[in-house]
This record gives sequence, C-alpha cells and structure tokens, in this order.
Amino acid sequence: ERVALWGGRFASGPADVMAALSKSTDFDWRLAPYDLRGSKAHARVLARAGLLSEQELCDMLTALEELGRQVESGEFTPHLSDEDVHSALERGLLEIAGPALGGKLRAGRSRNDQVATLGRMYIRDHARVIAALALDVVDALIEQASDHPEAPMPGRTHLQHAQPVLLAHHLLAHAWPLMRDVERLRDLDARAAISPYGSGALAGSSLGLDPEAVAEELGFAGASENSIDGTASRDVYAEYSWCLTMLGVDLSRLSEEIIVWNTKEFDFVTLDDAFSTGSSIMPQKKNPDVAELTRGKAGRFIGDLAGLLATLKAMPLAYNRDLQEDKEPMFDQTDQLELLLPAFAGMVRTLTFHTERMAYLAPRGFALATDIAEWLVRQGVPFREAHEISGGCVQRAESRGEELWELSDDDLASVSPHLTPEVRGVLTTLGSIDSRSSKGGTGRTSVAAQLENAKVTSASL
Ligand code: ARG
Repeated sequence: ERVALWGGRFASGPADVMAALSKSTDFDWRLAPYDLRGSKAHARVLARAGLLSEQELCDMLTALEELGRQVESGEFTPHLSDEDVHSALERGLLEIAGPALGGKLRAGRSRNDQVATLGRMYIRDHARVIAALALDVVDALIEQASDHPEAPMPGRTHLQHAQPVLLAHHLLAHAWPLMRDVERLRDLDARAAISPYGSGALAGSSLGLDPEAVAEELGFAGASENSIDGTASRDVYAEYSWCLTMLGVDLSRLSEEIIVWNTKEFDFVTLDDAFSTGSSIMPQKKNPDVAELTRGKAGRFIGDLAGLLATLKAMPLAYNRDLQEDKEPMFDQTDQLELLLPAFAGMVRTLTFHTERMAYLAPRGFALATDIAEWLVRQGVPFREAHEISGGCVQRAESRGEELWELSDDDLASVSPHLTPEVRGVLTTLGSIDSRSSKGGTGRTSVAAQLENAKVTSASL
C-alpha cells in the first residue's frame, strides 16, 4: 500500500507511471543520514515550542535513532512506493514510533526546506573530502618538483618550443590552479553554511519554531534570512558544481600533457604499471588511461554544470519540482572525483621523467633566441632592433640546419656588430633559465623559493 505524504484531498493514489516518474529514492537515498539529523534537530525545536512533550521528544529521538540504525544496517530501505528519501523515512518513523507520535514530526517543515538544507549539508561534507583529495594531487606535484629541482625541459607556447624552463616550474604551474580550486572549495563553505530549515514550503512557519537553533544543531553558521530564498535558491549548489568542474578542467589540462608526454614522439615520461592499462589485442600497449578518463570526465562535469544551470534558468520562485533535478549532477561530479582523484595522485606520484631527453630538447628549436635579444638589450640595444638581430641569427642557423650556439663568432658578427662572443654566456640552457630569476620566473633560485611557498600554501589549505 502506498503511503504518500499528501493523501487527504486525493480520491486515488498516483498512477504507476506517475509514481515511477516522481520517485527519486534511487538517487536521493544517500541523503538519509542528513535527513535523520535534520529530523532530530527539528524534533527539539518542536519540543521547545511546546509542540512535543519531554516524553514525546525522548521517544521521538529514540525512534529516529533506531531508524538510523536500521538505515545504516540496510534493514530499512526505500520501497517502490516511497516518493523520495523524506517520504521513505517518514514511513520508517511511523513504523517504529506509531502514527500518534510519528505523525507529529512533520509539523512546521516541508520537504522544500528539508531538501534544500540536506543538499547544503552534503555539499559541505563533500567539499571537504574533495579538497583533501585534490590536495593530495598537489602534494604529489610538489614532491615531483622537489625531486627535480634542476631538470630543464622545453617550455612551450602554441605547443612550439618557446623558452627553456625547469620541470619543477612547469609542475608547480599545475599545482597552483589546483590549490586555488581547493581554496574555492573552502571559501564556498561561507555561503553553504546557511540553513534553509524553518523556511517551510516557502513562507516560514507559524508554529514558533526557531530556525537558528536547528541551524546550530546541524553545524550551520546561521539560518536563511529569507524563506523564499531558502527554498528556491540553488546558487550554492551551482557554485559547488562549478568548483568541481573547474577542478576537473584543471586536471584535464595536466592529463592532456601527460598523454602527450607519454607518446613515443615526446618520450618525456614513463607511467608506472600500476597506473596504466594494456590493450586486449596489441600486446605492446601501455595506455595512460587515468589521464584519459580524467580528460573525458572533465567533459562530463561541464555537462553536469550546464544541466544544473539550465534547470535553474528562468525558474520562477519559489520551489518547483524541477529542483529535484539539482541533485544528480552534483552527486555525479562528487562520485566521479572521489574515484578519480586518488588514482590521479597515484599516477602523478609514480611518473618517471626522462630528464636527459627533456634537457636535450630544452634549448632546441631556437629556444634561446629571446636570450640573445635580452642580452643585446642589456648592452643598450633597443629591443626592437635586438629582436631583429636575434631573428637574423635564427634565420642563419635555420638555413644551415644548425642550432644558435653552433654559429661561429664570425657568423654572429656578420649578423650584427653588437653580437660579440660574450653573447655565448646566455646560449646555454641553465644560463637562460637562471637569468629569469625575478619573482615567479623559472630561474633555479626563483623556483626554489616558489617551491617553499607552494609547500607552505598547500600545508595551510
Ligand atoms: N524530492 C523533492 C526534491 O528533491 C522534494 C520534494 C518536494 N516536493 C514537493 N512536492 N514540494 O526536490
């Protein structure tokens, strides 16, 4: 038999197809522990408002405790006929406490303020979990950077050789955005920590309940200022979803690089066997699946976020059933990231870098041309002219299939009289790298300082 929360004015129960459409327990059952905590807090404010006697409160809390135990052990599960997690748990409470007591709990609350609150509780918990898992990826990057303090690699723009950089510098360039992602996941708590409980269906409650007391018991910083906002807004959900999407996108940029670095053509890295997969037909294959799955899931996260925003767009206040669609996108992102991040951290931590090859390639492709131009500037040559002169060197070397440092003193002098043999001082990889020693630069001293700051920042997050 169907136990709907709203039988009174209906002559019949919902059609099977209606019930099937309406049912959300497949995905919202994970909110059950939060719902039970909310119910306990709600029972206390009902008692404080004189709507439950001391004895009733005590019995209600005992029944909720027992229901929680049954939910946890799997003895109590949602029925096909339960519309959502809230209806299922009310059925459970009625079964344990009986209708006389169990039927009192719903006073002064609505599934609208309940569900809005539970989503925020979920977000607050999982933002912390994901932040911690993302920090582990940051730490893996920091460890790799510490292990390679002096190794150069080709720095690229447009995927072309641009200027040599330190591998540590490049790895930390992936760590900083991830640290900002973590920071954002922490920041959003200031907005997530407001409880809609007590907003009722949309207008608040007439029963003298204290939303601040519920908020406090549930670990929130306070209750919603506006009951319509409390039940209708999902911007905090969207913010959480955006943060997870950005995290996925940041991870996918590193993934793409690892995939490219792992090709025969680049040959910059070897992936650990534990973080690669093989092919069912090609025996030689060792594939970078962690990175590919990450890159793929980032697209899925963008879809989750776009779906959530599209649900919210143009929705009139206050609650509309459309809002039931708010949960699956963020659950999906949360589940996927909680699966993904530990594997990703393992992949990064166990990467082997082919530092000799990277160092060999670092200065090639005329990557030291800027160093010639900047050396000329230090000799007093205007940059416009220095740029031209250095370009002349590139042209000369390229036409001979040589690198810049292979040009003879005579070659250099014939390109420009400003090019005395002293210019060779900057025509080495580490000379080029170390010359960029201002804050944020790739010079060894700058990167050592950056590494220390990254450690301090990551430890503070
Ligand atoms: N299950 C709904 C949701 O997730 C909450 C129920 C509100 N239903 C209603 N008819 N007001 O949003």
